[in-house]
This record gives sequence, C-alpha cells and structure tokens, in this order.
Amino acid sequence: MKYITINEEFDWRMKIFNSLPFPSLILTPEKVIISANQAFLEKKKTDLNNVVGKTCHQIFYDTEKPCAEAICPFYKVIAEKKPQSILRRTEFNGDEEVWVDRMFSPILDDRGDVKFIMESVRDASRVITLEKRSIHIRQFLDKVIQSSPNAIITADRNGNLLLMNQAAERLFGYSMEEAIRTKNAEDFYPFGKAREIMKKLKNKNFGGEGTLTATRVDVVNEAGEVIPVEMTANLIYEGDKEVASTGIFYDLREKIAAEKKLKEILIQVAQSEKMASLGQLAAGVAHEINNPLTGILLYGNLALERVENDENPVRRYLKSVIDDAERCRDIVKNLLAYSRQASPTKEIFQVNSLIEHSLNLIRDQELLLNITVVKEMSDEMMLIHADKNQLSQVIINLVMNAADAMEKKGALTFRTYRKKPLKKVYIEVSDTGCGISEEHLSKIFDPFFTTKETGKGTGLGLSTSYGIIKENGGQISIKDTSNRGTTFLIELPLYTPDEKQSVLQNN
Ligand SMILES: Nc1ncnc2c1ncn2[C@@H]1O[C@H](COP(=O)(O)OP(=O)(O)OP(=O)(O)O)[C@@H](O)[C@H]1O
Ligand SMILES: [Mg+2]
Repeated sequence: MKYITINEEFDWRMKIFNSLPFPSLILTPEKVIISANQAFLEKKKTDLNNVVGKTCHQIFYDTEKPCAEAICPFYKVIAEKKPQSILRRTEFNGDEEVWVDRMFSPILDDRGDVKFIMESVRDASRVITLEKRSIHIRQFLDKVIQSSPNAIITADRNGNLLLMNQAAERLFGYSMEEAIRTKNAEDFYPFGKAREIMKKLKNKNFGGEGTLTATRVDVVNEAGEVIPVEMTANLIYEGDKEVASTGIFYDLREKIAAEKKLKEILIQVAQSEKMASLGQLAAGVAHEINNPLTGILLYGNLALERVENDENPVRRYLKSVIDDAERCRDIVKNLLAYSRQASPTKEIFQVNSLIEHSLNLIRDQELLLNITVVKEMSDEMMLIHADKNQLSQVIINLVMNAADAMEKKGALTFRTYRKKPLKKVYIEVSDTGCGISEEHLSKIFDPFFTTKETGKGTGLGLSTSYGIIKENGGQISIKDTSNRGTTFLIELPLYTPDEKQSVLQNN
C-alpha cells in the first residue's frame, strides 16, 4: 500500500503539525506511522526515516505484537470516530515515575471515515505527582486530625455528620460510621443548644464571623451524660458559600475535678493556718480568763451561802452571776480543748463502738426525742487508735448541730466504712436539716462562728471538733449539703495489726 508522506511536500498543515509542542505521530488505522513531528523526533533522539513505516508498538514497546484490544484506544477511535486517551507509566527516571498521557484523535476523510489517527504524547508526570502528593497530604491531614487529643467533628450545613476523629468517638461514645448513619450534630448538645452555638458562630462578636473562640458549653454523650467541654468552632466556606462547620472540643471533666481538689486543699490549708494562729490566741485568752473566773465562782458561791433567805432578790442575782460564770468556764474549757492544750489519751477501739458510746451519753436529751437514728455501719474490722472521749465530743457536737438544723425532728444517719488500701476509716453523719448556705460554708469551722442566737451557741463546736480530729490524725469536712440536709465526713487512720503490735509493745 502506498501512502502520501506529508513531510515530502511543502504543506502548511505540515508546519502546524511540526510546531506542536507535544511529541506527535500520524498513523494509519493499521497503526503504521506515516509521520512524526519535530518534538517527537527530538524526544526519541531519532530521525524521520527510522520512524516512518514502523508500527506504534514497534516504536513504543519494541515488539511485533500489537497491544491487546482492551487497552489500545485505537479500536475505539475508529469505531466511535472520537478522540480517546490513555494514561501510561512508561519508565522510572531514578526515583521519579514517568507518566504519559497518550491522546488519539481521528482525522476523517471526505466520507467521514477515519483515514488517519494523530497520536500526541503529553508528559503527565507532573499532574500525577501532584495528585499523589495531594493524596499524601490528605492522608497526612487525616492522621493529624485522628491523632488530636481533642475531639473534632465536622458537619454539613444541615448538621449531617461528615467526620469525627477518634477522640470524638471516645467523647461522644459513637463510632464515626454509627454517628454518620444515625445522628445529627444537634444530638450532641442539650436541647436547643446547637442553634445557640450556630448563632454565635455567625455573629461577629464571638471571635469574628464564622469563628467561635474558646467557649464553655455542655455536650451530651451516647449515655445521655452531660459533659462540660471547652469548644472552638469554625464555618467552612467554598468561595462565599458556607458548606460545613467544624467543632473542636476539649473535655473539661478532669480539669474541673483537679480544680475542685485544689480548692479543697487550699481551703484546708487556709483553715489549718487560721486554726493555728487562733489556737494560740485562744490558749492565751483562756488562760488569762481562767484565774479571774475561778475567783468569781468561788466568791459568788461564798456570797450565795451568806444570803439564806430564798425570797431575797440578791440570791437570784447571785445565781445568775454564777450561771453565767459557769457558762464562761465551759467556753474556756472548750477553748482549751480547741487550742489543744489538753493532750489526747489514745486507745485502740472499734469505730462503731465510738458511735454507740457517744449516743449513749446523749440518749436522754430532750432534743433527740423526735429524731430517728439510722445506723448503716459496716461490720468490718475498723480499729482506730485515738482519744475516745475527745472523739465522742466531736460526734456529740455533730449530733447537736444536726438536731438544731432539723429543729429537733428528722432523721440522723450514721454510716461507717473503711477503705483498706487507703488505710482509712470513715464516719458520716447526715441529717435532714436546713443545710448550710454557700456563704457560710467557708466559715463554719472558724471559732466563734455561729448562726444561732446569743446564748444558744458559742460557735466553738465545729472548730473544737476540727482541732480534735486533726489531733487524732484525721480530717473533718462537709461531704454534701443542700436544703435537704447535710453530711459531715470524718476520716481517720485505720489501725492495722502491725501498728497495733508496735503500739502494744510501746505501752
Ligand atoms: N448539721 C448542720 N446543719 C446546718 N448548719 C450547721 C450544721 N452544723 C453546723 N452548722 C452551722 O455551723 C455553725 C457553727 O457550728 P458550731 O457547732 O461550730 O457552732 P454552734 O453550733 O453555732 O455553737 P456551739 O456548737 O458552740 O454551741 C452553726 O451555727 C450552724 O450555722
Ligand atoms: Mg454546735
């Protein structure tokens, strides 16, 4: 068969073909090359004579065998008379892969049949590399998002979830698949809150339009638990169009717990310091008052003996003087206990026996008549090494306070238990009284702090108790208080057999 070779005659078409920047060939439908442009010859470092008359598989793959129909676009170009292309990795150039995009365009004759096919080879390595890099970046970003310790969720404009990282799965308790299938972003917040957050996000006053700076909110997990978090959020735009939103959540539970603990410790420290300085003062004052008081009581009683007539008003006056002086003596006694002048006499005993002993002492008190006493006491071995009389004083103080708070009717519950690994014994005293207001909470262990009317309370009960418990190696605190009642918690060191032995030996 004879073909016209375009390059043999001066032809403007030939000029266009030659000036194409991509290596290009013109082939017959039988895949025989009839021309190659300048770019092709330069790329292949050959001349036209070595190319013309050969087939494309000879030139590209150095084989006599045509490529399989399934992968060669030639057949489709002829059948559909439309351009086709294939992407091929042709070689490795060092580390770099070389990819080419081979475009096949039909050249039709006057009848509309495919007469020739022009093949252009374009280097696609750059595009492929960029694509690979973008996949790599996407995978890398995915890893960054997944490894964030903060929970991240992204949702479209209607709240349909698009992404959830592992921390979000842990925080909310759903797998990403499950959440995408069954949840809307609104479900992650208490009712109505998601809308509020969206409003803030669109308002420029909370970090600029489309941004929400760190804000404290609540979220709801799979179990319906409300979890405090700090959240930041962003709207994601494509051009001007808002397409999605992303929220980043920092779980505040641990932080809040740590802050609470720290506050408790600071209160304890402040309390101890206050007690120490007030203790010294109290001891001094008590000491100074004790002597004149002894005189007052002595001479008061002597004077009383002299006034024999019961009708004499002086007798009444003297009795008042003596009553008040005795009250002062009690206060001084309490002050001395508080200032730890009285040193404890320690013994080993069961905690439950302490409760029984204390209750026995006040059993007949009028103020306990309408109070139901509940005992939830563990029958485990709970020995302590402490001053039983002092501790009884603490229990009685608590009972008296509880009775006052309940206005003499209600339930008084004693709970005892131990935590062996911590080597601790616990006594809880709960009442169903009025509770302690927030403003009084930090003061109730202060000496002379009382809310009771003059004559009814000196405000020394709890401060003395505090001193006694400290003296015996423990702690006293308020476990819980509300208008439904108050629970005091006493913590004491558990006595273990080894220590018991050593103490017995020491005695
Ligand atoms: N169980 C309780 N429920 C409610 N408030 C309490 C309770 N226990 C103590 N309080 C409050 O703490 C204050 C201080 O108690 P504290 O025992 O130290 O003094 P007091 O009872 O007022 O006087 P005192 O015990 O010296 O007679 C009380 O006045 C009361 O306001
Ligand atoms: Mg009291």
